[in-house]
Amino acid sequence: MSKTRKLLVTSALPYANGPLHMGHMVEYIQTDIWVRFQKLIGNSCYYVCADDAHGTAISLHAEQQGITAEESIQQINKQRKQDFNEFMVEFDLYSSTHSEANKQLTTEIYNKLQTKNCLTVKTISQAYDTEKQMFLADRYIKGDCPKCGAQHQYGDNCESCGATYQASELKNAYSSLSGTAPVTKDTEHVFFKLSEATELLTAWLTTDAVPKEVRQKLFEWVNAGLKDWDICRDAPYFGFEIPDMPNKYFYVWLDAPIGYMSTFKTLCEQQQLDFNEYWQPNSSCEVHHFIGKDIINFHCLFWPSILTNCGFRTPTAVHVHGYLTINGEKMSKSRGTFISARNYLDHLQPEYLRYYYATKLSTSIDDLDFNTEDFAQKINSDLVGKFVNIASRCAGFITKKFDGKLATALPETMQQFYQQFPQAAETIANFYEAADFAKAMRAILALADTANSWINDAKPWVIAKDPNNDMQLLQQICTVGINIFRVLAIYLKPVLPQLAVNVEQFLNVSAFNWEDSQELLLNHTINKFKPLMQRIEPEKITAVLDASATPIVAAKEVSKPTIEPIAATIDINDFAKVDLRIGKIIEAKNVEKAAKLLQLTIDIGEEKPRNIFAGLKSAYTAEQLQGRYTVVVANLAPRKMRFGISEGMVLAAGTGGKDLWVLEPDAGVQPGMKVS
Ligand code: 2FM
Ligand code: ZN
Repeated sequence: MSKTRKLLVTSALPYANGPLHMGHMVEYIQTDIWVRFQKLIGNSCYYVCADDAHGTAISLHAEQQGITAEESIQQINKQRKQDFNEFMVEFDLYSSTHSEANKQLTTEIYNKLQTKNCLTVKTISQAYDTEKQMFLADRYIKGDCPKCGAQHQYGDNCESCGATYQASELKNAYSSLSGTAPVTKDTEHVFFKLSEATELLTAWLTTDAVPKEVRQKLFEWVNAGLKDWDICRDAPYFGFEIPDMPNKYFYVWLDAPIGYMSTFKTLCEQQQLDFNEYWQPNSSCEVHHFIGKDIINFHCLFWPSILTNCGFRTPTAVHVHGYLTINGEKMSKSRGTFISARNYLDHLQPEYLRYYYATKLSTSIDDLDFNTEDFAQKINSDLVGKFVNIASRCAGFITKKFDGKLATALPETMQQFYQQFPQAAETIANFYEAADFAKAMRAILALADTANSWINDAKPWVIAKDPNNDMQLLQQICTVGINIFRVLAIYLKPVLPQLAVNVEQFLNVSAFNWEDSQELLLNHTINKFKPLMQRIEPEKITAVLDASATPIVAAKEVSKPTIEPIAATIDINDFAKVDLRIGKIIEAKNVEKAAKLLQLTIDIGEEKPRNIFAGLKSAYTAEQLQGRYTVVVANLAPRKMRFGISEGMVLAAGTGGKDLWVLEPDAGVQPGMKVS
């Protein structure tokens, strides 16, 4: 880490269609820690981000609020700047993709792509909502699953049986925006010829820019043959109109990454920086993108191809992280496990979360869990109990007995013991540099443990009690303790920036930089110690969870009228063929990768219990179902599902979602009873 590097760092631009949540914060905290570390070691580093303000999801969100898209994105921009600020995520500039600068750069890039013959126009057939008079992306089409017949499934996969398919394969398809059946209509779109970028991507994907963990997936896509990329959407669309194509707009995913550059360009204008120095090919500056694993195709395939074709450099590195789960569960609005950034901030300190995420973040793309017990434990026992404790054990003596003055010199043995703390700087810096914060936090905590055992052995409180004891020794022990605390606070500064400022005040020193860890503070007067961090009270965590527990009703989508046409009549003989039995649920298990299904073992009075998959997860947990009774269609032919064979069907009363009811354990029925 010798010469000063010039870095530009970005986090993925969050869609301007709702509040920031705990999942978002993983990435912004991760990037912010990395950026603060770079600044702390003396590199020149700029961190930019912006709202991703275009696309149908954004205009629909505004429509639900009864305001214009422009008004909505402005409101959201203001709220999130506040959230970021409170979480101490410090951008050099936070902008929006709906900006003049972004419009100009997107147009410039489009023109360059055209000049380089990278674009082609094709006619495509797409679903069209005649009532809303708009083309429909697959996610706005719903219908019955072509494989299992489950109703109201999304246009790309079935949550009931897990099948994947094209929206055009759905039965009884309807637009989730109007409830009407879509028609197919032709339209002309501009495509970026991604297929011609295969060679350049094959070379780029093997560079260190791309994390090894995602390389294989990316190569799978490249090797399967890259398809040209549709960068165009039809009006009505909230975005930038394509200059030479009336009523056609740039697809949000074209102008979003360009938002990284245009935001930086604005920053360059504000601070007289040289934009080209950063973006020219073979630039000696570095560009780092931090993203989630769901958008690697955009950042590692489309984006480098576009940049290269337009004569810009490609990113130095794309850093990829996994998703956040809350107490082991996917965050879900409908299940009430959606914790917004604001809910958290209303009850808990931002630095708790910064530290907790730091202990979880590594170079892996595995998901990370916000486990509330582990969270409280890590803050209370690691941060408060081990790290802050070092200062609270030593500071009082320095203030009371030595008028705030640290010792003027240390004996040789103490100097030798102390050396390991500054010496760890390089190892910890390397962990930060690799964005392996979990390892950095472990190394820092191990040092805190070493310090605490040394203080335990040195027993300053015993020395302090007897005035006949060597007071110089007491001052020296506490001076070592305070110096260790100081070094660890420097190491933690990227993660705990506010705490570091408070420590600087307490120690009466100027703002720390990384190199300060190598100095020893002697013959120096410190200020009175004030508690630097409180333990987490469990009620505060409960308050966050309670505030998040009210299920948020999903975006206003119109479902098909609930009263559906009555099916063709059947006669009494047909009905009599259905053998309905009382079944007792003797076991219920979650099915991996199935959002709605539970696997049930049901006793219906036969020798062997039945294995039945049922879509009851939205209303019951596996534990809640055990011991309950239900009505089973006992003579339904066994069906092969993705997860195994289902030997019957469970009937429950209700309209779906949380409204599904089976019988209580004390329903007074027996397995195998016939239901008529
Ligand atoms: O996936 C998302 O949330 C996008 N809004 C990220 C955009 S990142 C970039 F390319 F702009
Ligand atoms: Zn299905």
